[in-house]
Amino acid sequence: MGIPQPAFYIMKCEQSAPPGMPKPSCVTPQTQDLFQHLAQAIMKEGIMGTVQPIRTSCMNRCSAGPIMLVEPGHTMYAGLTKEKIDRIITEHIIGGSVVEEYVIDQEMWDTAISPADMKKQMGR
Ligand code: FES
Repeated sequence: MGIPQPAFYIMKCEQSAPPGMPKPSCVTPQTQDLFQHLAQAIMKEGIMGTVQPIRTSCMNRCSAGPIMLVEPGHTMYAGLTKEKIDRIITEHIIGGSVVEEYVIDQEMWDTAISPADMKKQMGR
Protein backbone atom coordinates (compact mmCIF):
# COMPACT_ATOMS: atom_id res chain seq x y z
CA MET A 1 0.00 0.00 0.00
CA GLY A 2 1.28 3.46 -0.90
CA ILE A 3 1.47 6.62 1.14
CA PRO A 4 -2.09 8.01 1.42
CA GLN A 5 -2.83 11.38 -0.16
CA PRO A 6 -4.05 14.13 2.14
CA ALA A 7 -7.84 14.39 2.17
CA PHE A 8 -7.60 18.19 2.43
CA TYR A 9 -5.12 20.95 1.81
CA ILE A 10 -5.80 24.18 3.70
CA MET A 11 -3.99 27.13 2.18
CA LYS A 12 -3.66 30.08 4.53
CA CYS A 13 -2.49 33.38 3.08
CA GLU A 14 0.55 34.52 5.07
CA GLN A 15 1.22 37.79 3.29
CA SER A 16 1.79 40.90 5.33
CA ALA A 17 2.20 44.42 4.08
CA PRO A 18 4.64 46.79 5.77
CA PRO A 19 2.93 49.14 8.25
CA GLY A 20 1.44 52.17 6.56
CA MET A 21 0.90 50.46 3.21
CA PRO A 22 -2.56 51.21 1.83
CA LYS A 23 -3.16 47.62 0.71
CA PRO A 24 -4.67 45.51 3.50
CA SER A 25 -3.11 42.15 4.13
CA CYS A 26 -3.94 38.84 5.76
CA VAL A 27 -1.28 39.02 8.45
CA THR A 28 -1.32 41.88 10.93
CA PRO A 29 -0.07 42.00 14.53
CA GLN A 30 -3.61 40.97 15.55
CA THR A 31 -3.83 37.99 13.17
CA GLN A 32 -0.24 36.77 12.89
CA ASP A 33 -0.80 33.63 14.96
CA LEU A 34 -3.73 32.27 12.93
CA PHE A 35 -1.59 29.85 10.91
CA GLN A 36 -0.09 28.47 14.11
CA HIS A 37 -3.58 28.15 15.55
CA LEU A 38 -4.73 26.29 12.43
CA ALA A 39 -1.80 23.86 12.61
CA GLN A 40 -2.33 23.29 16.33
CA ALA A 41 -6.06 22.68 15.85
CA ILE A 42 -5.27 20.06 13.19
CA MET A 43 -2.73 18.41 15.49
CA LYS A 44 -5.06 18.50 18.48
CA GLU A 45 -7.69 16.64 16.45
CA GLY A 46 -5.10 14.03 15.45
CA ILE A 47 -5.68 14.61 11.71
CA MET A 48 -2.32 16.10 10.69
CA GLY A 49 -1.11 14.34 7.55
CA THR A 50 -4.52 13.73 6.11
CA VAL A 51 -5.13 17.47 6.50
CA GLN A 52 -2.19 19.50 5.26
CA PRO A 53 -1.93 23.19 6.23
CA ILE A 54 0.09 25.26 3.75
CA ARG A 55 1.34 28.85 4.01
CA THR A 56 0.77 30.79 0.80
CA SER A 57 1.38 34.28 -0.45
CA CYS A 58 -1.36 36.70 -1.51
CA MET A 59 -4.41 35.16 -3.21
CA ASN A 60 -5.76 38.55 -4.31
CA ARG A 61 -8.62 38.73 -1.86
CA CYS A 62 -6.83 40.92 0.66
CA SER A 63 -9.81 43.14 1.48
CA ALA A 64 -11.67 40.09 2.81
CA GLY A 65 -8.70 38.80 4.81
CA PRO A 66 -7.56 36.96 6.71
CA ILE A 67 -8.51 34.28 4.21
CA MET A 68 -7.85 30.58 3.64
CA LEU A 69 -8.68 28.20 0.83
CA VAL A 70 -9.81 24.60 1.41
CA GLU A 71 -9.11 22.07 -1.33
CA PRO A 72 -10.71 20.05 -2.69
CA GLY A 73 -13.83 22.14 -3.12
CA HIS A 74 -12.41 25.61 -3.88
CA THR A 75 -13.93 26.83 -0.60
CA MET A 76 -12.57 30.27 0.30
CA TYR A 77 -13.13 31.38 3.88
CA ALA A 78 -12.84 35.07 4.77
CA GLY A 79 -12.57 37.28 7.84
CA LEU A 80 -10.95 34.50 9.86
CA THR A 81 -10.55 34.37 13.61
CA LYS A 82 -9.36 31.51 15.84
CA GLU A 83 -12.98 30.67 16.70
CA LYS A 84 -13.93 30.52 13.02
CA ILE A 85 -10.97 28.24 12.25
CA ASP A 86 -12.03 25.88 15.04
CA ARG A 87 -15.56 25.70 13.67
CA ILE A 88 -14.30 25.12 10.10
CA ILE A 89 -12.14 22.21 11.33
CA THR A 90 -15.03 20.67 13.24
CA GLU A 91 -17.86 21.20 10.79
CA HIS A 92 -16.20 21.21 7.36
CA ILE A 93 -12.95 19.26 7.62
CA ILE A 94 -14.20 16.57 10.03
CA GLY A 95 -17.98 16.90 9.63
CA GLY A 96 -18.07 17.36 5.87
CA SER A 97 -20.33 20.45 5.80
CA VAL A 98 -19.05 23.77 4.49
CA VAL A 99 -19.55 26.59 7.05
CA GLU A 100 -21.51 28.77 4.63
CA GLU A 101 -21.63 31.84 6.86
CA TYR A 102 -17.84 32.19 6.76
CA VAL A 103 -17.49 31.67 2.99
CA ILE A 104 -16.29 34.73 1.06
CA ASP A 105 -18.95 36.74 -0.87
CA GLN A 106 -19.63 35.35 -4.32
CA GLU A 107 -18.72 38.66 -5.95
CA MET A 108 -15.21 38.18 -4.52
CA TRP A 109 -15.06 34.50 -5.54
CA ASP A 110 -17.12 33.85 -8.65
CA THR A 111 -17.10 30.77 -10.87
CA ALA A 112 -13.68 29.91 -12.29
CA ILE A 113 -12.84 30.46 -15.96
CA SER A 114 -11.35 27.34 -17.49
CA PRO A 115 -7.83 27.75 -18.86
CA ALA A 116 -9.10 26.64 -22.29
CA ASP A 117 -11.77 29.40 -22.26
CA MET A 118 -9.26 31.97 -21.08
CA LYS A 119 -6.96 31.08 -23.97
CA LYS A 120 -9.90 31.58 -26.38
CA GLN A 121 -10.73 34.97 -24.81
CA MET A 122 -7.12 36.01 -25.28
CA GLY A 123 -7.32 34.92 -28.93
CA ARG A 124 -4.56 32.34 -28.58
S1 FES B 1 -2.68 39.39 1.54
FE1 FES B 1 -3.95 37.64 1.79
S2 FES B 1 -5.15 37.62 -0.02
FE2 FES B 1 -3.81 39.28 -0.30
